[in-house]
Amino acid sequence: MSITQRLVVGISGATGIAYGVRVLELARKAGVETHLVVTPAAQQTRAYETSLSARDLAAMADVTYRPADIGAAIASGSFRTAGMIVAPCSIRSLSAIAHAGNDNLLTRAADVTLKERRRLVLLVRETPLTLAHLRAMTAVTEMGGVVMPTVPAFYLKPRSVDDIVDHTAGRALDLLGIDVADLPRWGE
Ligand SMILES: Cc1cc2nc3c(=O)[nH]c(=O)nc-3n(C[C@H](O)[C@H](O)[C@H](O)COP(=O)(O)O)c2cc1C
Repeated sequence: MSITQRLVVGISGATGIAYGVRVLELARKAGVETHLVVTPAAQQTRAYETSLSARDLAAMADVTYRPADIGAAIASGSFRTAGMIVAPCSIRSLSAIAHAGNDNLLTRAADVTLKERRRLVLLVRETPLTLAHLRAMTAVTEMGGVVMPTVPAFYLKPRSVDDIVDHTAGRALDLLGIDVADLPRWGE
């Protein structure tokens, strides 16, 4: 298995679980092997925001791990991956990642991604932002992570929420060099 075909996906408990779902769908379509961890708070947003069961969500990935499974493959740097996307990324998970607080498998896998100098993309979702939020984003950026707030691009004239989610999820995969078919692009 080539490492460019393996992606870790974390889903944390910010609103917008649709972003994580779409990342999984697009990665599967692109032939990428996905390794998923969903936090307990994200299981709550899944129940509020989607009609998916926990089992449905787990089945969207090739491998799904329990957040408490700190000995899972993705907790080790020797398990090679192209990188990790956290979609959506809560402020709690962002803060834990910013301070290497490896308190569950999502934050541990993110820390491993940073320490191995692999691509880490955080689709942070909160507004308005406090200085603590901004400092955590700065810390992650200084360590080489990419903070990608879930902000729509209106110049593409989205006609639905799905269009907005598709574009953001596709751009997140772009950041890992994963080719997403039919992603609307300016000038193309
Ligand atoms: C419906 C709902 C929406 C939430 N939206 C956000 C949000 O947009 N951003 C955020 O940082 N936290 C949000 N939270 C709070 C997080 O779920 C909470 O801070 C949790 O501890 C995050 O844990 P996790 O990072 O382990 O998933 C929301 C919670 C609920 C129940």
